[in-house]
Amino acid sequence: MSHESTYDPKTGFEKFIDRRMPIIRLGYDSFVDFPSPKNLNYWWTFGGILAICLMVQIVTGVILAMHYTAHVDHAFASVEHIMRDVNYGWLMRYAHANGASMFFIAVYLHMARGLYYGSYKEPREILWMIGVAIFLLMMGTAFMGYVLPWGQMSYWGATVITSLASAVPVLGEPIKTLLWGGFSVDNPTLNRFFALHYLLPFLIAGLVILHIWALHVPGNNNPSGIEPQSKKDTLPFHPYYTVKDGFAIIVFLILFAAFLFFMPNALGHADNYIPANPLVTPAHIVPEWYFLPFYAMLRAITFDIGIPFTEIVLIEAKLGGVIAMLSSILILFVLPWLDSSKVKSMRYRPVARLWVFLFFLDVLFLGWLGAMPAEQPYVALSQIGTAYYFAYFLVILPILSVTETPKNLPRSISEAVLADKKKAPAAEAGAIGGAQPAPAE
Ligand code: HEM
Repeated sequence: MSHESTYDPKTGFEKFIDRRMPIIRLGYDSFVDFPSPKNLNYWWTFGGILAICLMVQIVTGVILAMHYTAHVDHAFASVEHIMRDVNYGWLMRYAHANGASMFFIAVYLHMARGLYYGSYKEPREILWMIGVAIFLLMMGTAFMGYVLPWGQMSYWGATVITSLASAVPVLGEPIKTLLWGGFSVDNPTLNRFFALHYLLPFLIAGLVILHIWALHVPGNNNPSGIEPQSKKDTLPFHPYYTVKDGFAIIVFLILFAAFLFFMPNALGHADNYIPANPLVTPAHIVPEWYFLPFYAMLRAITFDIGIPFTEIVLIEAKLGGVIAMLSSILILFVLPWLDSSKVKSMRYRPVARLWVFLFFLDVLFLGWLGAMPAEQPYVALSQIGTAYYFAYFLVILPILSVTETPKNLPRSISEAVLADKKKAPAAEAGAIGGAQPAPAE
């Protein structure tokens, strides 16, 4: 929430800086005395966790790039060299590869939080849209990163996905040639993917700064979805949320360490330890787990779309799949306008709440289907899953925005917290998770 600065420079050095470039003031107002709703739960810690993930990826990635060779004849061997010969190279590589998975776990939970608590709604539309742009860039970065070790899955994954461009009428072939830098996935492809894989994380970092700027104007949403009315509804970010976020980050890093040190290959595919071979196609080409729901939607469109009772085809199946996959993400950009209900939090939307849970299950279901072979019954099930995915945004939310009767909203965050407290007297005794006393005003 925009608020008056309370920063009071004490030392001569602080005063010197403050008069010339008030960056300490900016940090203080944004992360120390920033008024945050007092009822934020652990779902609000994933933003901080994501910032840590981005830093881990950039630091380990830059170190890996010092030893990696972006050439089709050397890439695979250079990765093995990193694993075996470079001091702590194994740690850097496993941290980077598992870090990507951890990043996606965090981002999916962060987005699910936004969907559940209506954080995409007015006045946070731009914040949400910047988030969707970050998500798109994350997907592009992860896809290109997976190509770099030049294993079988790298090569065939790159071939399958870049070939999708050829489904686009007229421009398809030129786009594909541009992506490939030639007439097949080869050395120029690897080179441009490496260049972009190095570049995009810095673009993401820039967008994260805009994301936090757009967050700090309206301030955080909160589980009740009611904006803070007075100082009683908020707490200073430090120490309340620095400590809460810090604790969540430590728990998250323990999970990360469990993968890193005990099962570093659990989330990867064994075929990527086979050097790329353009003459041998793997039996099943599957993307990394975090792409699976979208991969299922891509493969769900197995039919041409045309004018009924004529032979005229408007959209061929392959293009239909590409459109379904891309629109499944692009639709998120317009979500704030599809769901026009004034009530943000699903806590107070008894009907929409059921549908959003079904939506979360649907995405998990599509993820499972994406890992299955492209045959029946999986194709039919993917079609049902894809239909629900789009129906949620295009039919269910717009209709519920108008027809649903929400529960009575508390008048303020304080009232919502006190109502929770009455329901769970134990929280009062233990204080943890219960209402915090408002800070002295
Ligand atoms: C690199 C990736 C990202 C980083 C580092 C990041 C960082 C953050 C941080 C630090 C916050 C404030 C703390 C919190 O609410 O958890 C936040 C809030 C938010 N983020 Fe992100 N974010 C990322 C990606 C995304 C994506 C992909 C979306 C949605 C598509 C998104 C949507 C939001 C929204 C709507 C809020 C406001 C939440 C609220 O106040 O209820 N973010 N983000």
